[in-house]
Amino acid sequence: MIRRRDLPAPPPSSEITPEAVYLDRRAFLRAAGFTGAGAMLAACGAGRQPTSTATPAEAQADELGNPSTDVEIVTSYNNYYEFTTGKQGVADLAESFRMRPWTVEVGGLVHKPMTFAIDDLLASLPQEERIYRLRCVEAWSMVIPWVGFELGRLLDQVEPMTSAAFLGFTTLLDPDQMPGQRSPEYRWPYTEGLRLDEAMHGLTLLATGLYGEPLLRQNVAPLRLMVPWKYGFKSIKAIVRIDLLEEPPATFWNTIAPQEYGFYANVNPEVDHPRWSQASEVRFGRGKRRDTLMFNGYADQVAGLYAGMDLRVNY
Ligand code: MTE
Repeated sequence: MIRRRDLPAPPPSSEITPEAVYLDRRAFLRAAGFTGAGAMLAACGAGRQPTSTATPAEAQADELGNPSTDVEIVTSYNNYYEFTTGKQGVADLAESFRMRPWTVEVGGLVHKPMTFAIDDLLASLPQEERIYRLRCVEAWSMVIPWVGFELGRLLDQVEPMTSAAFLGFTTLLDPDQMPGQRSPEYRWPYTEGLRLDEAMHGLTLLATGLYGEPLLRQNVAPLRLMVPWKYGFKSIKAIVRIDLLEEPPATFWNTIAPQEYGFYANVNPEVDHPRWSQASEVRFGRGKRRDTLMFNGYADQVAGLYAGMDLRVNY
């Protein structure tokens, strides 16, 4: 069973804490009860894994008994190429990123194309907490209490046509705010894709926050996909557009290096990345390596989606 918890309906926008408060992530950490020297990460050199002795105010664990990763690690060690290719420092670079107004346009092969404002999504769809493992293709992992809602709830509203078989997701393109997008090395904006049945699966979330907090720029900003049985690069941040499609869309990493980053990207200990093994992973803040679990431990829920497929070919 996946642990889930319904969250109370969000307060009316008049009662929402001014955005300026969220700009100060130190204030967020203090407000969340993460105080004291132990809660602040020691500076990590590039490539070193973060460690922390912080004890979360409210210890939480996933359904396998894995404790959630310290919030300071989750919010200060990020992959977010729109800001930097470094892992540390995303939070600072993203500090003034504007998350309002924010809309997500859903179109393509749908009967009712719609544009949703983030505040309407927060108010109209019940937000729940799900504790999911996040497994990066780089062989590190975290356990994170996400806040969000099932993507399927949003898709129901736009009524996909029977010809729709895939989804394409697109991140905001705004090089003024996202300095990494000025780099000609990559093909911007970041894009990702799912099969429609993967998108409709009950585990697939559109995340709006984590650790009970909305608006975490470096992790969510302000709407992000979370597909827990796939490598983290599928979980695209800062989504502004979703298209329902007949064919699989071109995606950011798959376009750059198709032999390294497949369209499916299901976590699979038996299919190595061409440059490293995927048989084991480092759980940040928890020391030694552990075995990678098939579909990141969600095989009971999702293996059926891939029945009859050769997962070495469809990696
Ligand atoms: N989404 C966008 N738009 N840009 C990115 O660079 N990085 C991906 C994914 N989503 C990325 C993105 C990768 S590689 C990973 S592992 C996760 O975000 C990291 O999420 P986190 O920073 O919340 O840990």
